[in-house]
Amino acid sequence: MTDGWRESAEAWIADMGDTGDFGRACVLDRPMLARVQAGRFATALDVGCGEGRFCRMLRARGIAPIGIDPTDALIDEAQYRDRGGDYRVGRAETLDFADDSFDLVVSYLSLIDIPDIAAGIAEMARVLRPGGSLLIANLTSFNTAGQGEGWTNDWKGQARFPIDHYLRERADWVSWRGIRIRNWHRPLERYMSLLLEQGLLLRHFAEPAPYSGDPEMVARYCRVPWFLIMEWQKPG
Ligand SMILES: C[S@@+](CC[C@H](N)C(=O)[O-])C[C@H]1O[C@@H](n2cnc3c(N)ncnc32)[C@H](O)[C@@H]1O
Repeated sequence: MTDGWRESAEAWIADMGDTGDFGRACVLDRPMLARVQAGRFATALDVGCGEGRFCRMLRARGIAPIGIDPTDALIDEAQYRDRGGDYRVGRAETLDFADDSFDLVVSYLSLIDIPDIAAGIAEMARVLRPGGSLLIANLTSFNTAGQGEGWTNDWKGQARFPIDHYLRERADWVSWRGIRIRNWHRPLERYMSLLLEQGLLLRHFAEPAPYSGDPEMVARYCRVPWFLIMEWQKPG
């Protein structure tokens, strides 16, 4: 079954532009880069790198990343925008790298896209070197539990974001600006227990607030739980 990424690639590339969408440019990039800069990382793997924006940011900071993604058109775009970069078609569930290969493994809003999340997280932990970090930005599970309906107006015409069936893991179709993809909803416990099962240690947790941007968007992103950032370390 398709997940919509192949069909949505062109709209996704247009939507990301050079700087990324609001969530990236105004909420996630700064705290994600702060974690990167706090570590001593020379090599990195960006799992579900999309059109390569975060890999380009890592390269600008002297880190040598490899970006992998199953969507050919996004990998082609990443390589086109960054000729010297290393971008490969691949899936989180079967990473084509030796154990203990990378100082840093990044999943920037890709856990929600990975169908076999148990295999994906086990693979990310496997390729991380002891002492290295798995840095995750994800939609919160409270948010993905509301994605089926998204913002709706209540009987007073007030915008609401209804959360429902929180404990039921499922994939929902979500659409915006010409993009239509399947996102996974999983209770937070599912991600946390898989990460703990790998023996990883939680070193950082944040629910970042917007730090810039259109005030209406800032207000919207403060109303409901939106993103989380976690940094997990593989014991050295
Ligand atoms: C929401 S986008 C995020 C892209 C990029 N990290 C960013 O922040 O712009 C999710 C990405 O996950 C990719 N993806 C889908 N299934 C995947 C899988 N099984 N393993 C790795 N990546 C996957 C999609 O192709 C898409 O590029």
